[in-house]
Amino acid sequence: RKKVTLQTLRTLYQKGEPITMITAHDFPSAHVADQTGIDTVLVGDSLAMVALGMEDTSEVVLEDMILHCRSVARATKSAFIIGDLPMGSYEISPTQAVTSALTMLKQGRVHSIKLEGGAAYTPHIRALTTAGVPVLSHIGLTPQRQHSLGGFRVQGKTAAGALTVLDDALAVQAAGAWGVVLEAVPAEVAALITKRLRIPTIGIGAGAGCSGQVLVQVDMSGNFPPGRYLPKFVKRFGDVWREAERAVSAYRDEVKRGVFPAVEHTYPMPEKEFREFER
Ligand code: KIV
Ligand code: NA
Repeated sequence: RKKVTLQTLRTLYQKGEPITMITAHDFPSAHVADQTGIDTVLVGDSLAMVALGMEDTSEVVLEDMILHCRSVARATKSAFIIGDLPMGSYEISPTQAVTSALTMLKQGRVHSIKLEGGAAYTPHIRALTTAGVPVLSHIGLTPQRQHSLGGFRVQGKTAAGALTVLDDALAVQAAGAWGVVLEAVPAEVAALITKRLRIPTIGIGAGAGCSGQVLVQVDMSGNFPPGRYLPKFVKRFGDVWREAERAVSAYRDEVKRGVFPAVEHTYPMPEKEFREFER
């Protein structure tokens, strides 16, 4: 398979072929994603919760993200890799955004960064694209700003709200973003925004009218402990957690019962050698 580049994504967009994106946070999750032929892998800051057990994404820092980006990059042969700039690493100034993004590109070995923010972040996006950093914008529901948004809620549900999302999309496009993630936006709004833009929209909870889709891998593959809250937009394609639990539980059981390891799991020794050893 050929390496996916921004040009590949542009071609898919122009052909009207949906762009596929999934999160990965380490070597195995990136490896499995890349093997399927997925177009793009996102090292999302959602790894704070799904891989590091943090309450939300606000605890994760640039250095954490870079460590995970690098392990994802080692496993990724063809997919285009995007790293999430974590909260606190880009908001202060365009200069801070460029410094953080270049560190993530150079040390994390990703091809693009993603940052949360619309019209208010056009100076940051402009500075990044000028510095040669491809930018994927993220608007609508922006989890890093869950507290100022008043929680995880659908964005653009009113005419005025929808207009804000559209204005944000047009602004980040004008600033040079190559694409925009639309999270938790009514499907009709996302479809209309997609029609108005000349860059791809990647939807999560934004319906089938987007130019592509993204999901968090542990959510869609069912690789999380029972009781985790799943947003409405997640479809579960698997039950990886149950299979891992079944395997570990069977192992524990067999060790306790003396069933594992069996003879076939051991190394033989010539009897003569053992006799001598025993003496
Ligand atoms: O952090 C993440 O996984 C994301 C996607 C859900 C878009 O930002
Ligand atoms: Na994120």
